[in-house]
Amino acid sequence: MRTDYCGNIDAAYIGQEVTLCGWVNKRRDLGGVIFIDLRDREGIVQVVYDPDLEDVFATANSLRHEFCVSLTGLVRARPEGQINTDMRTGEIEILGKSLTILSKSAPLPLDWNQENSEEQRLTYRYLDLRRPVMSERLIFRAKVTSAVRNYLDGQGFLDIETPILTKATPEGARDYLVPSRTHKGKFFALPQSPQLFKQLLMMSGMDRYYQIVKCFRDEDLRADRQPEFTQIDIETTFLDADGVMAITEGLIRTLFTDLMDVDLGDFPRMTYADAMRRYGSDKPDLRNPMELIDVADLLKDVEFKVFSGPANDPKGRVAVLSVPGGASLSRKQLDDYAKFVGIYGAKGLAWMKINNLAEGVAGLQSPILKFLPDDTALAIVERAGASDGDLLLFGADSYTVVCEAMGALRLKVGNDLEITESGWKPLWVVDFPMFEEIDGQLHALHHPFTAPRDLTPEQLRDTATTALSNAYDMVLNGVELGGGSVRIHNQAMQSVVFDLLGIDEQEAEIKFGFLLEALKYGAPPHAGLAFGLDRLVMLMTCASSIRDVMAFPKTTTAACPLTDAPGEANPAQLQELSIATIKKAASEGEQ
Ligand code: AMO
Ligand code: AMP
Repeated sequence: MRTDYCGNIDAAYIGQEVTLCGWVNKRRDLGGVIFIDLRDREGIVQVVYDPDLEDVFATANSLRHEFCVSLTGLVRARPEGQINTDMRTGEIEILGKSLTILSKSAPLPLDWNQENSEEQRLTYRYLDLRRPVMSERLIFRAKVTSAVRNYLDGQGFLDIETPILTKATPEGARDYLVPSRTHKGKFFALPQSPQLFKQLLMMSGMDRYYQIVKCFRDEDLRADRQPEFTQIDIETTFLDADGVMAITEGLIRTLFTDLMDVDLGDFPRMTYADAMRRYGSDKPDLRNPMELIDVADLLKDVEFKVFSGPANDPKGRVAVLSVPGGASLSRKQLDDYAKFVGIYGAKGLAWMKINNLAEGVAGLQSPILKFLPDDTALAIVERAGASDGDLLLFGADSYTVVCEAMGALRLKVGNDLEITESGWKPLWVVDFPMFEEIDGQLHALHHPFTAPRDLTPEQLRDTATTALSNAYDMVLNGVELGGGSVRIHNQAMQSVVFDLLGIDEQEAEIKFGFLLEALKYGAPPHAGLAFGLDRLVMLMTCASSIRDVMAFPKTTTAACPLTDAPGEANPAQLQELSIATIKKAASEGEQ
């Protein structure tokens, strides 16, 4: 039906006749001449209709927003003064010769010139995706997946599909369950990741696997979390952690150079312990130069219990954040930051302004100065490397609360005061603990198939709370882009890990019997990683949410306003599945 895309017509086409199809982005009637901005996936081109072609002109006059049309016209240079160098098509226009309306459009339910609510955008997603910014993101996403395939195909990886109707795969979220009709009362789980299948593929000798694959997790949603999302899932045999990190780092570096002309360079490595200590986070944003500085040793003997308590507690932490130029913050701003850290469980946010260090303590301003000996206050300022005009913010609590609260505060202050720089800061975080202890029970920090670093099963049992895992996360600009590990390939080790996680033999057999069995038959050493494709594309396109780089995302309450899913099931279907639904009282939420 057409000879070209609208967005591709440039000066090279001058003098040629083209036939285009697309949507009316805009129609302007400029004193007898009608201008149409015609839009398709690739961009917008200007078409002009003169009144001398009466019928065609009348049709052009009847066009409205988003009518779908086809037209033929002659490409000509725009008159001097009308050239728009920002657009690929900005040097030319098309003198329209024919015009056919393929499909009329009712007035749009979305306002083209204003921000629409997310609910409205998702209800009319097919219209929202017509906006050039949205189609550009989807086009870019397709380029990313194509480049990922090229790179991994070139490295000998096989693209192998794994089941969607499967058994639970523990990645830390709730499962989406699918009832079985043929096995009444039984359920499939949708995969939280293909973790176990990719390990089994290594045991099958496939050597290098990848898949661009949907994963399903029923968890609280955020800007970078969706209930169904896409992983670039990778697994290899006979490679150690360094080997996997080299290949996957190479993939990301290649995507940035080929698609964005950005050189990410070699990625630095940081231990989990250092990341928590310096940034209060296991996914530090290194574009922000501020660091948390420990001062507990200076505060052990002060009378101010808020500080001396955590300073003397082995599980406590007292840290300061030195904010360049922060002394100009108002009382209201400081109060707001104190409220902000409260979200993370902090009980307060002491502050100290450095007004004039030459005056010693007299040049400091803080509500807690009265609780601190002069030399202690000055020693803290010196340790923090603060100078005139700076602000110190204090966190004193358990190690975990201080990391979470001050880590989040660091990001917020960095953005609010524009301290965070632009650009790209990738890194690897390594040496994670195997387990975290919550209420006396161990939980896997990654997943239960992650191998410990340099430990026998017996040693792991003895040192479980301090053992490190052979896991690695790739972080870019404060976003966890991917995570992976060397896997356990030995049944004895896998059994010890299940046992430490409180999964007894019987439960291990029911849930993971097939894995334990597979580990008996010459299971090779293997390791891998999975990237969040949506997060990667979000970062590369500078979108603020992964929803903006997914064609049909869910809302933050995990619903789809377009199709109105999830919906009620048909009673006959439920009966066939032997399922009855229970209506809960409204106060308990809908069932
Ligand atoms: P993990 O759980 O770390 O590891 O997931 C890998 C990557 O997937 C992305 N991701 C998400 N993206 C959007 N929405 C979500 N709800 C979501 N959850 C995770 C993140 C994350 O880094 N099987 C292991 C990988 C392995 O060990 O090889 C796994 O799934 O970018
Ligand atoms: P108070 O004596 O409780 O009024 O606290 C004095 C100052 O210490 C106030 O600025 C509080 O915000 C701050 N503060 C209280 N608890 C903490 C804490 N756990 N960490 C950091 N600052 C705190």
